[in-house]
Amino acid sequence: MNDLVVYGPSSRWLASELAQELECDTMMFQTKIFPDGETYVRLPASPSSKDVILLNTFYPNQDRRIVETLLMCDALRRSGVQNITLIVPYLAYARQDKVFLSGEPISLVPIGRALSCLGVNDVIVVEAHSKEALEALGLNVTNVEVRESMLKALEALKIKPDVIVAPDKKAEIRASWLALKLNAELLVFEKSRDRLTGQVSSQPVKEVNVSQKSVLIVDDIISTGGSVANASSFLKKEGALEIRAMCVHALMVGDAESVLFENGVLAVYGSNTVETKFSKYSVVGELSRALKR
Ligand code: R5P
Repeated sequence: MNDLVVYGPSSRWLASELAQELECDTMMFQTKIFPDGETYVRLPASPSSKDVILLNTFYPNQDRRIVETLLMCDALRRSGVQNITLIVPYLAYARQDKVFLSGEPISLVPIGRALSCLGVNDVIVVEAHSKEALEALGLNVTNVEVRESMLKALEALKIKPDVIVAPDKKAEIRASWLALKLNAELLVFEKSRDRLTGQVSSQPVKEVNVSQKSVLIVDDIISTGGSVANASSFLKKEGALEIRAMCVHALMVGDAESVLFENGVLAVYGSNTVETKFSKYSVVGELSRALKR
């Protein structure tokens, strides 16, 4: 087992929980931005171990986090580290997992290749957007699912929804698992997104009476909030009593919070794959189990 968790400042909460769980030491990379915008990283000391866990989420500021991670891997290698197990709690660039419009890339392919050149082979990610994204990365990737933590969080928060909503078909498996565990009804929306404008439209695939019911919308990512807001606006019109949203990665870009609020969402619960005020539950249990395996 690796005995050192090295991490970037964007993953400090999770790093400390993980080190506690694994009973090992931590070391935070020093980082700064040069006046011209370039990224600088430095290990404050030589790692005592040849095997390390490098933890660095790819949000906020995805591009910077990715460059930072590549530089960190190089610095670790130069400091004598032989094996790096990379944990990327939020794997950015996963939504461009195919060529939707001609002339586009598959974004994780070059990122995976760069990591591979640095000798990184073992990567652990949390609830990657799709199987295609994981394949595109082209490394030995473990994709950790965190439904158990979602369920525990709902119990701890004393949230007992009558209806669980998947805002699109891709979110159905997670939502139906939660609905089964919570003995709630399941409602799935069909969503379409205009690839050029990003505009989202959605409607439920079947009729469900949500009047006076408490509803939880569950998705993998909340970015602009558009997908959840669409579903929520429909549910609100149908007379839902309380609407909340839960996700794994609460990116909450720009005015997402007010967009959701205006469309009737009372609260947003995200995990600590992205460290913000919306981080309401931890994925450390699943991550440490994946590492021990
Ligand atoms: C897309 O298919 C994902 O599962 C999410 O539904 C999407 O990324 C959410 O983005 P936004 O909050 O911008 O609608």
